[in-house]
Amino acid sequence: MGDYTNMAGYYDVIMTSGYYDYAKIVDSLVAHQPQRNVLEIGCGTGLILEELAKRQPKLPITGIDLTAPMLSIAQKRLAPFSTVSLSQQNITELVLDDKHELAFSYGGVWYFVIDGDKEPFLVSHIADEQANHLGFEHLAKHIALGGTLLLGIQGPHHDYETVISNGMKYSQKIDPTDIGFTKHYYLKEGDHKVMDQTVHYRTYTFAQAQELMGTYGFEYVSAKDVNQLFLQFKKVK
Ligand SMILES: C[S@@+](CC[C@H](N)C(=O)[O-])C[C@H]1O[C@@H](n2cnc3c(N)ncnc32)[C@H](O)[C@@H]1O
Repeated sequence: MGDYTNMAGYYDVIMTSGYYDYAKIVDSLVAHQPQRNVLEIGCGTGLILEELAKRQPKLPITGIDLTAPMLSIAQKRLAPFSTVSLSQQNITELVLDDKHELAFSYGGVWYFVIDGDKEPFLVSHIADEQANHLGFEHLAKHIALGGTLLLGIQGPHHDYETVISNGMKYSQKIDPTDIGFTKHYYLKEGDHKVMDQTVHYRTYTFAQAQELMGTYGFEYVSAKDVNQLFLQFKKVK
């Protein structure tokens, strides 16, 4: 489920070639003015957390991720920041000491896709239905009552190929499945394939997502934040 081992060594160069806008993501997070502590679920190589730790040097920050090679890059990147702690965990079995005032995922365990005027739908890196319940159940235990959960918004996925900053060719291919879709990620140097990774995603309609998340106390608050990058949920029970 959601294993990024194959991509780990190339993740940063793909993402920082324009895939995500990290400065803008962190603008949205700091707009929520977290003071006490923040948790990122699916922090990957720590690109968001590095920017967040630079901008909020006193804020205690925790990042968790399933994929050891992603996390080891994050560990090196975030070593200079004593406020950041990282641990290798699957969200479905999450155990941390603290409850957090703000938790978020941008492209991490869960995110929303918004396609034009259509209703948002939830995309999960966890293909199994019961495991998604376990994930939200465990996450809920680590967010304070009244705390906030932000899940990132992305545009619809489509097949494409592009040259990234190191000259390699990144491509992705989407295949619909009964439970959502499968996404294939490829990286090529000339004709030589240097990376391929396949992730099976489960999707939920907005109504299904609200029901699933509502079971664990997450209530939908608002459509979009200042930068239109996150949907906001509040932990109400
Ligand atoms: C697309 S990356 C996003 C990384 C980071 N948020 C960023 O913006 O660069 C998705 C990450 O979610 C992690 N992930 C997927 N399923 C997970 C799970 N069940 N528990 C914890 N992390 C998970 C993967 O290991 C991967 O590092």
